[in-house]
Amino acid sequence: MDHFNYDADGQLQAEQLPLQQLAEQYGTPLYVYSRATLERHWHAFDQAAGDIPHLICYAVKANSNLALLNLLARLGSGFDIVSGGELSRVLAAGGDPAKVVFSGVAKSEAEMRLALEKEILCFNLESEAELERLNRVAGGMGKVARVSVRVNPDIDAGTHPYISTGLKQNKFGIPIEQAPAIYRKAAAMAHIEIKGVDCHIGSQLTELNPFMEAADKLLRLIDELAAEGIHIHHLDVGGGLGVNYGAEQPPHPTEYAEALKQKLVGRKLTLLFEPGRAIVANAGVLLTRVEFLKPGETRNFALIDAGMNDLLRPSLYGAWMNIIEVDSRTDHEKALYDVVGPVCETGDFLGKERTLAIGEGSLLAVRSAGAYGFTMASNYNTRPRAAEVLVDGDKAFLIREREQLADLWRGEHLLP
Ligand code: LLP
Repeated sequence: MDHFNYDADGQLQAEQLPLQQLAEQYGTPLYVYSRATLERHWHAFDQAAGDIPHLICYAVKANSNLALLNLLARLGSGFDIVSGGELSRVLAAGGDPAKVVFSGVAKSEAEMRLALEKEILCFNLESEAELERLNRVAGGMGKVARVSVRVNPDIDAGTHPYISTGLKQNKFGIPIEQAPAIYRKAAAMAHIEIKGVDCHIGSQLTELNPFMEAADKLLRLIDELAAEGIHIHHLDVGGGLGVNYGAEQPPHPTEYAEALKQKLVGRKLTLLFEPGRAIVANAGVLLTRVEFLKPGETRNFALIDAGMNDLLRPSLYGAWMNIIEVDSRTDHEKALYDVVGPVCETGDFLGKERTLAIGEGSLLAVRSAGAYGFTMASNYNTRPRAAEVLVDGDKAFLIREREQLADLWRGEHLLP
């Protein structure tokens, strides 16, 4: 459930504000987020985990706007980061470094040092070489690094190959058969403290089974390690729970957490989740205006002012995202359109074969754009990135200004 609904006059609202008004006030393309939806989804996870010790580490990569991170930090959220940049954002937003886990396959020494200095909760290690580097960097600082090993359980998450991460052929994690050896090595290191086991098998999963299979494999590993005297304190199950862009019916966080909790009975394990999409996707829309309608011989095009540089998911993954009229009571005739952007690429589309009642100047909302929308935006074609607005009840807050052209060439220099 989210808070983007039509009012009695058929006008699409974000909470209590008409999107039409926001478009006029802030211009388009515009990302619009709903605070109530964001918070609702975070609480859904937190309450689902319920009475067992747990921490929700929101995956910053899904949407890293400081205002959003700050709202989550106020709820007590932890954060899953994949770069020193994301750690700096979390800190700038008032997040607690003691609730930060650091994923990612190629952490630099500088990133390790920053994370050690800030005393993050845990490094999720993705290779033996990373373990060696971390031990050395921590040693140089006279510190001890807390770690989990990100295990690759070789499970087919049944999702798009680009966002499937838990198969042998993926670059992520350490093959589960090799994990005990890495733990043994880590246990013998002076500047490493073993905290957990971690995995993340993919994103936009719509079935529980792959999660459950992964959990079983991880719990078996935890038992094996315990038999060797290596004790694990937390189980980090990663992110990946899907959302309904269209007809998908992903499990509710409660269903997911309940199934996990049953497996944890009798164990003293803290449960960590790293959800990104499930928290923020449906808390945002991309608002865009139709520039032109262009009839074609085989299809009609709706040329809009947002492109693949604003929202890459359809172009990159062929992702289907729902595109709806902001004014659902228009007099325009319904027709079939490919909804395409201004970028000079054939792959620049946000939706294909959509039935829409639109004309020049009509507003459209691309739903579920809160996750991996703005964070994957670029300046391709020298297009300033969109502004971001957060709606809270009947109030709107500009949480990121639209980029100015001068921002785009800041740092570029002419030859003397
Ligand atoms: N933890 C780790 C280690 C991850 O790599 C990811 C996402 C997450 C958590 C959060 O996953 P989520 O709960 O959001 O599924 N750009 C793609 C998604 C890439 C996901 C990468 N990793 C998309 O737009 O579909």
